[in-house]
Amino acid sequence: MDLLVKIRGITFKNPVLLASGCFGRDTLKFTNVSALGGVITKSVTLKPREGNPPPRIFEIPCGVINSIGLANSGIDKFLSDELPEILSCGTNVIASIAGEDMAEYVELARMLEQTEVVGIEVNLSCPNVKKGGLEFGKHPDSIRKIIKSIRNTVSKIIIAKLPPLFENKKIVSAAEDGGADAIALINTIPALAVSIDTGKSEIGGGKGGLSGPAIKPVALHCVYDAIKNTNLPVIGIGGIMTARDALEFLLLGASMVEIGTGVLVDTDTATNIVKGIKEYFSKEEIENIPSFWKRRGFTMS
Ligand SMILES: Cc1cc2nc3c(=O)[nH]c(=O)nc-3n(C[C@H](O)[C@H](O)[C@H](O)COP(=O)(O)O)c2cc1C
Repeated sequence: MDLLVKIRGITFKNPVLLASGCFGRDTLKFTNVSALGGVITKSVTLKPREGNPPPRIFEIPCGVINSIGLANSGIDKFLSDELPEILSCGTNVIASIAGEDMAEYVELARMLEQTEVVGIEVNLSCPNVKKGGLEFGKHPDSIRKIIKSIRNTVSKIIIAKLPPLFENKKIVSAAEDGGADAIALINTIPALAVSIDTGKSEIGGGKGGLSGPAIKPVALHCVYDAIKNTNLPVIGIGGIMTARDALEFLLLGASMVEIGTGVLVDTDTATNIVKGIKEYFSKEEIENIPSFWKRRGFTMS
C-alpha cells in the first residue's frame, strides 16, 4: 500500500498537509512533521502586517471564529528568519501568499521562486482583511488574471485557494484557465459572534472566519462541486479532525486534504490522521488513493 500523491512532478508521501495559518514553531518542535505530505506556511504579504486587534480567536461549539487579519512579518523577514527553519522540517513546504493587488502577488511569487519551497498556494479567499482577500476570490476574472500572472513568473506548482462558494464552476474554471496545478478549498466561512453584554462583536476585528468541525458539511459540499467542475487535483479543507473526516473528502475524489483547526487543538492531529488512513487502507486492503476512489467512489443517492 502507498499513499503517494503527485502534483505536476512533485511527489507528496501522503495526502495530508498542514493548512496555512494554523501551525507554528510548537508544531514543528513537538510533532513529527516529516511524516506528513507537506506543510503550507502562514500567508505572507509583501510588507509586514500587524493584523487585527484582539481578541482574534473566539471559540464556539464545534469551531472557532478567527480574525487574525493576515498578521505576518512580511516577505523579507519570512525568507530570512522563518522559512529556513520550516524548510528543515523534512517534508514538502508550500508557501502561501496574499496580495493587495496583482503586482503584489506576482512579486511575492517571484521572490519565492528562488527558494526551496515546492509550490505556492495563492490565498484568494481570506475573509478578515479589507483589501484583497475575498474581493478577488469572488471574481473569476481577477482569479484568472492573478493565477496567469503568477504562472508566467514561476515554474513551481501553483495551488489556488478558493473561498467557500457553492456552484463554484466559474471560479474553479478561472483558476484552471489561469494555469493553476491544483484547487484548494475551503478557506474559513465569514462569521460573526455577538456579545449581549457589550453590544459589540466578540471579535476585535468585527467579523471573522469560521473553521473547525462546524464547517465540514459545507466544505464537503464545496469540494464535491469543485471536483465536478475541474480535472485538476482538488485539495479538501474544512473541519477535518480525524482520519474518518479525511477519508470522507478523499471518497468524494479529493486528492489531498489540509488540516487547520485540528492542529490548533492538538499538534499531533495531522500525524494521527496519516496513521488512521494507513490503518483503514490496510484493513480494507486498499492499495492506494485511486483504488479507493474506484472501490468506494461516492454517489449522491
Ligand atoms: C487562526 C487561523 C489562521 C488562518 N490563517 C490563514 C492564512 O494565513 N492563510 C490561509 O490561506 N488560510 C488561513 N486560515 C484558514 C485555514 O487554512 C483553513 O482554510 C480553514 O481554517 C478551514 O480549515 P479547518 O476547519 O481545518 O481549520 C486560517 C485559519 C485559522 C483558524
